[in-house]
Amino acid sequence: MAKAQDKKEEMVVEKEIQPKKDKNLSSEKSFLESISGIGPTTKKRLEEAGYGSKEAIALATRAQLTEISGIAEKTASILISEARARFDLGLKKGTEFETAARSRQKLTTSSKVFDELLAGGFETGSITEIAGENGCGKTQIAHQMAVNCIKYFDRDVIWIDTEGTFRFNRIVQVAQAMDLDPDSVLSRITVGRAYNSEHQMALTEEAITTVPNVGLIIVDSLMAHFRSEFAGRATLAERQQLIGKHLSFIAKQTEMLNCVGLVTNQVSAKPDALFFGDPNKPVGGNVVGHTVTTRLMIRKGKDIKRTATLTKNPELPDGKIEFAITSEGVRDFKK
Ligand SMILES: Nc1ncnc2c1ncn2[C@@H]1O[C@H](COP(=O)(O)OP(=O)(O)O)[C@@H](O)[C@H]1O
Ligand SMILES: [Mg+2]
Repeated sequence: MAKAQDKKEEMVVEKEIQPKKDKNLSSEKSFLESISGIGPTTKKRLEEAGYGSKEAIALATRAQLTEISGIAEKTASILISEARARFDLGLKKGTEFETAARSRQKLTTSSKVFDELLAGGFETGSITEIAGENGCGKTQIAHQMAVNCIKYFDRDVIWIDTEGTFRFNRIVQVAQAMDLDPDSVLSRITVGRAYNSEHQMALTEEAITTVPNVGLIIVDSLMAHFRSEFAGRATLAERQQLIGKHLSFIAKQTEMLNCVGLVTNQVSAKPDALFFGDPNKPVGGNVVGHTVTTRLMIRKGKDIKRTATLTKNPELPDGKIEFAITSEGVRDFKK
């Protein structure tokens, strides 16, 4: 009985499918409802398979839609072309990139040589990764950048803290060294203490949707929870998929909000490279390596001395500089 009904519906769909004329396609009407000939059964099937919106259908292939039972080739073609007509797939002229490129800003590191390495500082609109061994100064740099965002951008900070290393006292010291009122700086930093990877992802999304005027999103440290929760080979694929989702969400938000994304990362020894170049490699594999736009490796030197090596950026040459971590924050290293 149900089968016969489905068959009938498919035939109707084949014959009549077309956008409904002179109907206003306002937001309260879904895309599928705006196409006449799509009956409730077909609509339900499409929705259940994840093709409920014009965006999903615009990006689907005909084969994907016809795999859903009851969707004929012709129906799929019409749905896709109609969805594409109403959805900007994203082709742009080269000149249109000028506005985005011009709107990118650089956030100073408070060290002149460090800024020079980055052609001005940490860039808005993308993610910068700071990687290095424990104690090299990643969290210290994050404290400095948080205060700098408030001072130089006059915009707020989101800090996702996965290891409990955000320090009230360090913000006070760094702010005072810059003649800022520590309380007003602290009041503009929203800290989310993440206790596991799920919590980390949820906090990030919650913070981004609730904090207005964000200039800097910090995740310190990106991989700590993922690494401990997904320890074995068996769960590696799942781990990478979740990290990909988390990072690409942050990347998209930094682009849309034109703010700085700063993630810190751990390194692991790369045994075969012990004798060839840098033995330490940021964890997280290609997913992290591809999603971050800028990659910095930090190394601890004697006392306050640190080195920063730029190993990835689409428009800057690689390079290495020396800087210092002092009680006042990030500064030039003076011999
Ligand atoms: N108040 C301070 N004054 C000077 N140096 C500090 C201060 N606090 C921390 N540091 C330096 O920063 C180091 C810790 O760096 P941190 O950013 O926590 O490392 P990571 O996040 O890379 O593990 C300390 O070992 C010390 O060298
Ligand atoms: Mg740290």
